[in-house]
Amino acid sequence: MSRKPALIKLAAALALVAAAPAPVRQPEAPIAVSIDAAHPGPPIERDIFGQFAEHLGAGIYGGIWVGRDSPIPNVRGIRSDVVAALRAIHVPNVRWPGGCFGDEYHWRNGIGPAAQRPVTLNSNWGGVTEPNAFGTEEYMDFLGQIGADAYVSVNIGSGTPREAAEWFEYMTSAQPTTLAKERAANGHPTPYRVKYLGLGNENWGCGGAMSADHYVEEMKRFAHFTRDFNPAQQSGDAAMKRIAVGWDAGSSDYTEAVMKAWHDKVWSWDIDGISLHSYTVGGWPPHLPSTGFGEDDYVKLLKETLGMDGLLARQTAVMDRYDPQKKLMLAVDEWGAWLAPNPGSNPGFLQQQNSLRDAILAALNLDIFIRHADRVRLANVAQMINVLQAMILTDGPKMVLTPTYHVYRLYVPFQGATAIPVRFDAGTYRHGDASLPRVDAVAARDASGTLWLALTNVDPDQPAEIAPEIAGVRLRAATGEVLTAPRVDSVNSFAAPETVAPKPISGTMRGGRLVLTLPPKSVTVVRLQQ
Ligand code: AHR
Repeated sequence: MSRKPALIKLAAALALVAAAPAPVRQPEAPIAVSIDAAHPGPPIERDIFGQFAEHLGAGIYGGIWVGRDSPIPNVRGIRSDVVAALRAIHVPNVRWPGGCFGDEYHWRNGIGPAAQRPVTLNSNWGGVTEPNAFGTEEYMDFLGQIGADAYVSVNIGSGTPREAAEWFEYMTSAQPTTLAKERAANGHPTPYRVKYLGLGNENWGCGGAMSADHYVEEMKRFAHFTRDFNPAQQSGDAAMKRIAVGWDAGSSDYTEAVMKAWHDKVWSWDIDGISLHSYTVGGWPPHLPSTGFGEDDYVKLLKETLGMDGLLARQTAVMDRYDPQKKLMLAVDEWGAWLAPNPGSNPGFLQQQNSLRDAILAALNLDIFIRHADRVRLANVAQMINVLQAMILTDGPKMVLTPTYHVYRLYVPFQGATAIPVRFDAGTYRHGDASLPRVDAVAARDASGTLWLALTNVDPDQPAEIAPEIAGVRLRAATGEVLTAPRVDSVNSFAAPETVAPKPISGTMRGGRLVLTLPPKSVTVVRLQQ
């Protein structure tokens, strides 16, 4: 039997299918984001937008410090372009001098006439020489220029309580002690303010590989003997806050031991918080590239970074057992993306590019911190300039603002505002076997009463329509800025510094509802108006 009639029938059927109108894709209803303005949450401490600047690669030398004789415009050796950029994001505090560097830092190397300071080795980071040109005075001057508070980590790993105590007497004493007079002779007669004292750094690892119990015994001595003598910081909110080391990147032993010791403590020592370090790495050692990646890496890192929420919840649960009143803070004082070093760079310098993906990663983490605002009251992204997930990249006189920088600028209205609970159906974005929430949202009310909404659309292909709602309130306008770019791996370079830069965005009224269209792969912050 000939197969021709059958073929003709099949062809006719296919023709019919081809001619049939394509099924009409129903437009999705906008995602309702319900803002519970009647039940405000805790304050969002400004300090969760803190930064970390370690003596590492070009983080300090080149990134901040260029020296007084540099042709790069500077004020007392501190580069002016970087200062202006940092002022615009209202940096609340800067953690210094480390990191692993901190537990090998001896403060006396970094004071006095520059020509007389010893040259030492930075054995943690690239084995390069450390000129000690940037020391206590330069750090404090830098903080003054950008308007930030001090977060000074003392050396527990290889230092002594006496060394730390003398450093703090040098910085904070108003009494005419020999150390205070030395500070005056070095140009600063009035005492410095130190808002946070870091009691060591990762003492389970580079800070001396101490057991949790050993660390607790050391930490108590440093907590007692390292005093802040500044008369303006002797009580209340102004008093210096001590941060002990917590979570040891794999177990809660430190968190448990420190919290238990604090719970049972005697009068002679105290702390105000414990730290947590958690990087988004995509596998150790870090090997994922910071440029030229695709959707696989995009999904992988964002999924990993969302693990921050569970980690904070687990550490909070441990802290709650000893401190149900939440007196102590959880300080996420190192976090961010840790990727493969730029090809050709010194691997010990931890230099990486910064993409739109990193901006989204930053926004998701800031949202998590805001949702944990009752416990997370301090956080420091690693690191500020030229290192890891940096705000700013420099090369000689050139400077470029990274996508992460722009997220910090967009979130400025959240600094010190009050968290407002939001409810929404995040939906799902799928890629391969992986799935993650498609959108994220946090809201806050600032001191002037203005309501702010931060929205992240994780989906790299689909826009997301959002309808903000407040019970009993008719919202009329949403205006602000949106950060997006052509690709998830788009970066800002010295040659093309505006590839990833915020642009204005506003909502539109549709059927009596305020609707905002978030572009794919974007971070948006808007003010809501009634
Ligand atoms: O930020 C780089 C390093 O990461 C820090 O020095 C250390 O504390 C952490 O392991």
